[in-house]
Amino acid sequence: APRRLVDTYGRWLHYLRISLTDRCNLRCIYCMPSGGLPMLRHEDILTLEEQARMAKVAVNLGVNKIRLTGGEPLLRRGVATLLKDIDRLTPRPDLRITTNGLLLERHIDLLESCRVSTLNISLDTLRPEKYGNITGVGQTAGEKLFAKVKRGIDLALETGAFQVKINVVALSGINQDEILDFARLTLKAPLAVRFIEYMPVGRHKPFQPRHFLSTEDILAVLADLGPFEELPTGPGDGPARRFKVPGSPGELGVISALSSHFCAACNRLRLTADGRLAPCLFSEKTVDVKAVLRANPTDEDLAQALLKATREKPAKHHQVPNQTIAAGCPMSRLGG
Ligand code: GTP
Ligand code: 5AD
Ligand code: SF4
Repeated sequence: APRRLVDTYGRWLHYLRISLTDRCNLRCIYCMPSGGLPMLRHEDILTLEEQARMAKVAVNLGVNKIRLTGGEPLLRRGVATLLKDIDRLTPRPDLRITTNGLLLERHIDLLESCRVSTLNISLDTLRPEKYGNITGVGQTAGEKLFAKVKRGIDLALETGAFQVKINVVALSGINQDEILDFARLTLKAPLAVRFIEYMPVGRHKPFQPRHFLSTEDILAVLADLGPFEELPTGPGDGPARRFKVPGSPGELGVISALSSHFCAACNRLRLTADGRLAPCLFSEKTVDVKAVLRANPTDEDLAQALLKATREKPAKHHQVPNQTIAAGCPMSRLGG
C-alpha cells in the first residue's frame, strides 16, 4: 500500500498548511504587536522551490489538501510560481489559500487559473471606520484598505470560481456587536462566515485575554438570527461546526479553537515560513526540515522529515482560554 502520514493515534494527516512568509501588510491586534515582529531574514525563509518540493513530497505521502497561509501569502514575491507548481502536481491536491484579502484584486486571475478552490478571507469588522483599529493601520488608511478587501470579496464571489469563507475572530468589546451583521451576510450571498475563538498564542505580548469569546457566547448572540440548523461534518472537514439558516445561500461556522477539543479529528501538519514542520498549532517541538532541505536531500530524506513530524503529533493540546500560550511560534510565522 502507498505510504501515508498516519500518526501514533491513528489520525491520517492529509492536509498541509504552508506559511509562505511571516510578512504582513496588516498588524491585527490579536496576531502581531503594533510595531510588528522582527522579520525573518531572507535566507531563513524557505525558497519557493523548497516549498514546492515539500508540497510534492507531501502529496506523494497522500496529502490531498494544501493551504497557503502567512503572514499574508499574497505578499510573497513569486507566489505565482508556487501556485503553478502545486497546480501541476499529480495527484493534484485541493489547493486553498487564507488571505487578508488586500491583494485579492491583483491576484484573482492567477488564483482562478491555478484552480484554487477556496479563499478564506480574514475580516473582523464590517465598519470601515473600525477596520484600521483592528488591523493596526490607523483609521484613515483603514477605511481605504477596508474598501479594498470588500472589492476583493465581491470580485471573488462574482467570478463564481471559488468557495469563499470569511474568518472573523470574535472579540468581546471589539466586534461582538457585529456578530449578527456578519451572520446576515450568509442570508444574501453564497459565502461561509466563520467565527473563530481568539487564541492567545505567541511569544510576543499577547492581546488581552479579556476579549475572549467562547463558542457558547457566539452561539448565544446568533440565537437572535432566528432558527438555524447544524450541518453534519464529515471526516476531512476542518475544525468548524457548521450551521445554516434554512433557505439561505450561505452558511455559518464556529471554530472552537480553545473551548472544545477537535484534536481527535485533527488532520493537519504545518510548514512554517522558516522551514519547520509543526505537528500541532501549539507545538513547542518542531522538525527542522530547512536543515534537511539545505543538505542536498533526496525526496526520501524529506519524506522522513514529514514522517517524523507525524510521529511527534500530540494527542491533543492542553491550552485553556484566558491564559497566555507560550506557543513555539508566532501565528504570522506558523500560518494560523
Ligand atoms: P478549511 O476547513 O479548509 O476551510 O480551512 P481551515 O479552517 O482549516 O483554515 P483557516 O486558515 O481558515 O483557519 C481558520 C481558523 O482555524 C484559524 O484561526 C486557525 O488558526 C484555526 N485552526 C486551523 N487549524 C487548527 C487546529 O488544528 N487547531 C486549532 N486549535 N485551530 C486551528
Ligand atoms: N486567534 C484566533 N485566530 C487567529 N488568527 C490569527 N491569529 C489568531 C488568534 N490569535 C486567524 C486569522 C486568520 C486565520 C488564519 O487565523 O484571522 O483568519
Ligand atoms: Fe496579517 Fe493575518 Fe496576522 Fe492579520 S492575522 S496581521 S492579516 S498575518
